[in-house]
Order: sequence, then C-alpha cells, then structure tokens
Amino acid sequence: MGKEIPLALGDIVDLALDGISHEGWGIGRYEGFTVFVPGGLPGERVEAKVRQVKKNYAVGELVQVTKASAYRVDPACSVYASCGGCTIQHALYEHQLNMKRRIVADALEKIGGFRDIKVHRVLGMVHPWEYRNRIQLHVSTEGNHVKIGFFRPGSHELVSFENCHLVPGIFNDLRNFLERELNRRRDRADLSCLKHIVLKRSAYTEEIAVVFVTEKKDCPVLQDLSLALVKSFPAVVSVVQNIRIKNTGALFGPEWKLILGKERIDERIGDVIFSISPGSFVQVNPDQTEVLYDKVLEYADLTGKEMVMDIYCGIGTISLILAKRAQKVIGIEEFPGAVQDAKFNARINNIHNGEFFAGKAEIVLPELEASGIHPDIIVVDPPRKGCDPAVLEAIVKMVPQKLIYVSCNPATLARDLKILAGKGYKAREVQPVDMFPQTYHVECIVQIKRAGSRME
Ligand SMILES: C[S@@+](CC[C@H](N)C(=O)[O-])C[C@H]1O[C@@H](n2cnc3c(N)ncnc32)[C@H](O)[C@@H]1O
Repeated sequence: MGKEIPLALGDIVDLALDGISHEGWGIGRYEGFTVFVPGGLPGERVEAKVRQVKKNYAVGELVQVTKASAYRVDPACSVYASCGGCTIQHALYEHQLNMKRRIVADALEKIGGFRDIKVHRVLGMVHPWEYRNRIQLHVSTEGNHVKIGFFRPGSHELVSFENCHLVPGIFNDLRNFLERELNRRRDRADLSCLKHIVLKRSAYTEEIAVVFVTEKKDCPVLQDLSLALVKSFPAVVSVVQNIRIKNTGALFGPEWKLILGKERIDERIGDVIFSISPGSFVQVNPDQTEVLYDKVLEYADLTGKEMVMDIYCGIGTISLILAKRAQKVIGIEEFPGAVQDAKFNARINNIHNGEFFAGKAEIVLPELEASGIHPDIIVVDPPRKGCDPAVLEAIVKMVPQKLIYVSCNPATLARDLKILAGKGYKAREVQPVDMFPQTYHVECIVQIKRAGSRME
C-alpha cells in the first residue's frame, strides 16, 4: 500500500520551509509530505494553498509569509508576480548566489551521486540588473488592442510590461514604441502575420538588431514600421524578417529577409571581435560571459601546443578565444548560420588555426573520432538537455587528457558527469557563474580530468 497523501487541492497548509528546489521554490513538509512553494524561501514559515497534488509531492501557492527570511526583499518589478520570468527577485542578491550554489550541489548529489566535488562560491555581478543583451517578445491582439510582452513560462498567456529590470533601458523604450506604433496601425494594416519580436544588442558597439518573426512571407506592415523604428532609434542598425510558417518549436524559421540596415552586429569578447548574424546563439549576459570564458581559459591552461575541440560551439566564441593560445581548435555546431559566423569571425580576427564543422554533434563527433582525431582538450557547452549519449561515448573514445564542461542546467550536468565518471573522467571542481541574476538559472563550468592523466 502506498503512503497516504495528507492534503488535498484547495487546503491551506502551514509549512516551515527548509530547502530550495531547482526552480528556486521553497520546500517544506506537511506531515512528512513534500510541498513546493514558489515564492517561498528556506528558513521561512508560510501558509500555502495547495494547487497541485502528485503521488510524491504537492505544489502550494504562497498565501502568507508568517515568518519572513532575513534575506527576503521587496521585488523591484511591478509585474513580478504575473510575469514569472524572474523567480527569485524576492531574495537578496547575495542570498540568490548562495541558493544557486545549493541548487548545483543538490543536483550533483541527488542526480549524480557526488559528494566530493568542490562547488565554489557562485561568481556574481556587482550590478545584477539590466544585463540581458537579447529578449524575445510575443505579439498578440486582445479585443481591439495589440500587446507586446513575455509569455508566462509554460503558457501562451501574454504579460505586457513597461519596465523590465533585466534589460537595458533602450529595450523597454523599443517595446513601448513598437506597441504604440502597432496600435496606431491596427485599423489599416493586417497585423496577424507578426508573431514575435527579438531584440539583440551588442554591449561593445551598443548597436541593436531587431528581428520580426512572421507566420507569412508577406507582412506589409513591417516596411513602414521598420522605417519609423530606425528614425526614432539610431542605435537600431539592423532590421530583419524571419519567416516561420510551420511551428517546429524553434523560435526561428529557416528563411531570413533583410528589411533595413546591415545583416550582422559586432560584439567583442575578451580580445576577439565577433560578428553575429540574427539567428545565432550568443550568451545573454555579456559581462558574465567574460567571467565564464576566463574560467574556461584558466581550466584549459593552454601552452600553445594543444589540439582543442569545442563541441556545441555556436558562433565560435570559446573556440576562437582558445585558438589564440592553442595549436589548433576544431568546433562543431548544428546551426549552419552560426558555423558561417564562426568561419567569418576567424577570418576577421586573423585566426587561421580554427576548423568548423556544421552538423549534429552526435553525428559529426563519432565520424571525427573514427577518422583518428584525438584532441588533448575537449570543451562541451550543450543546450539545456545536455550531451547526447553518442557525444559522451565519442569523447571517451578520443581519450582527451582534459575535459571542460560548460552547462546551463545542473540536472543534465550531474547526469552526464555520472556517465563520464563511470568511464574514468572525474570532475574535480565546479565553478558556478551567475549569468542570469533574479532567476533560478545558473551556469557551471566543470574541470574534468582523465584518471591517471599526465595533466593531473
Ligand atoms: C549553450 S549554446 C553554446 C554556444 C557557445 N559555446 C557559446 O558560448 O556561445 C549551445 C549551442 O549548441 C548548439 N546545438 C544544439 N544542439 C546541437 C547538436 N545536437 N549538435 C551540435 N550543436 C548543437 C546550439 O545551436 C547552440 O549554438
């Protein structure tokens, strides 16, 4: 017989919170049964209304904090409760960093079974606001009014805002301007073609690229709207249309059309200039990207003689920074536009020892391994789902002396580290970096060495 569930939907329960979930939710127990409380902090006493009951846990909505944590602060954002993009704005920043360290250590222990990996203090920001260089906005018409905003996570419920504190002020001005301009045009133009708007900014040049994602090839409102946009915002140097007729789950469709200005904007990271096309991935927090990549460089500890492989390389950011200090770097990336950017970036920076392959790492890497390539150091920086098993298998077969794992998801990181440990690649230390202040997300860099390696 299973354990009896001591609560039901709608119950209001009194809880002492003593843990933190990977989403940044407080964890308490009601008669021994686990209850997650979004908005609650460890050390608090709260009343929560039960909103979801599963076999092993429940989720409760915070009704009242009866004993507040010393680390609780008033959130800065006026739509904090309804937006859901930020999850831990109610905690003092220093405490956010401590919670993230605990989230990483918990994942390593619970998923990976690791108790002996040193998790360093999270490297945080001095000003943990206005850091994002990219946002994705959605456009929706409600009644007679066009709204531009974020989707509440896990829904298509649009949250409009005027002042998001995670983005530079000009992104808020652009959003407010575009919403006003679309509403001015709504009676004479068909706006149903326009679904999403992506804003990207270079911290180096302060140039902005705007991408309009449409569901149809023809979206006549864009020409006039774009002209108005660049007239009012000289920092907008690139306006591009992306056509996504079929919703594949990816934000961008395969077809791109330049509307105004140039196709790419330039960013500088470390001592390398990166020219970025609108569909390519770049880390969202430029200041902390420098911190992250400096750590990768430190862990790589290059002498100039090494062959390095950078798997999931995006536009070649890590590859090219390492290439300046290595004998050769090979990058692998799925998105062909990013590979083109990587090759272009190598050329404009006079870097001639980088080679880039377009394709899925799980296909390209085993082929490179079979062709006899054996790098000294491998860097992986996969998307949230972590490394494909075929990638881990090929890495182990290549017998690198050192592996550096950059991860934006502690759960899949812990899973992959466990697999690698079983093959003789032991993680030594984890350095978390706060790329996403005010949210539960945390980036980690892990140094992994081969047992018995001469680099140990
Ligand atoms: C977290 S990003 C890292 C990019 C880069 N290292 C950086 O710091 O900007 C992950 C990258 O992996 C790419 N990607 C996703 N799935 C892939 C796969 N199966 N094979 C190769 N690349 C993939 C994405 O397009 C993205 O550029």
